[in-house]
Amino acid sequence: MTATTAPLRRIGYVMDGRAAEDGGGVKLTRVLDPRTARLTDPFLLFDEFRSDVAADWIAGFPPHPHRGFETVTYMLAGRMRHGDNKGNTGDLGPGSLQWMTAGRGIVHEEMPQQEDGLMWGYQLWVNLPAGEKMAEPGYQDIAAARIPEVDLEGGGRVRVLAGRFGEVEGPVTARPTQPVYLDVSLPAGQALRWTPPTGHTVLVHGVSGRFTLAGEGQAMPARRLAVLTGEGDVLLRADADADARALIIAGRPLREPVAHYGPFVMNTEEELRQAVADYQAGRF
Ligand code: CO
Repeated sequence: MTATTAPLRRIGYVMDGRAAEDGGGVKLTRVLDPRTARLTDPFLLFDEFRSDVAADWIAGFPPHPHRGFETVTYMLAGRMRHGDNKGNTGDLGPGSLQWMTAGRGIVHEEMPQQEDGLMWGYQLWVNLPAGEKMAEPGYQDIAAARIPEVDLEGGGRVRVLAGRFGEVEGPVTARPTQPVYLDVSLPAGQALRWTPPTGHTVLVHGVSGRFTLAGEGQAMPARRLAVLTGEGDVLLRADADADARALIIAGRPLREPVAHYGPFVMNTEEELRQAVADYQAGRF
């Protein structure tokens, strides 16, 4: 084993996101959206909502439909409640993960369960391949205690939300894009080297502190997302003077056409028209 000789994945693009509103008027930062999905396949959208001003999030995300992909919500602070028209309910509390497979169609809501305080979390959209877009909807409500944590040699910790890190498997059941979702905390100066599955797209998003990727000079601050390029390992090192925390998100690219309209992501315009018609006819 000479894993340390593997090449390093480097920064291809960085994205800082833009202010946006969604749901009932929740203020958030849209870091990725479907217009740039080609660069981040199979990931379609990535939002951060983070505010201790209740007016920014109190309206929540009232009932709305999805078809053709998966929505993944990871909470760091605050509480919301999920409900959908398939009878699923779930508590989005600190450290919990919700993995919803919209498939052929689901109508869900995510509503705040608090009136003040910090609300902080991330929503990721993961595409489905053509053959799975009309599959039965599914919902995985994963409490914080079910998410395994790996202590790193020399300090630091990895929460394994989905996929595999070393010998540790996250709680999300097998998905078509073989996603890996890691929440990495590193003390100042500490590094993590990790080998993603070959061919996977890899995104790294700063949560707090500052770090470098592949030893490159460009420091990654919190709230910036890097799309890595090439093959080989991810090398993430916290700056010498502060701890750092980052999300690593990896998945198998689908390389299929993406047709997007609002909450629907299909392969063709005709399938989008069908999605709108089916939703309006109450077939979700
Ligand atoms: Co939604």
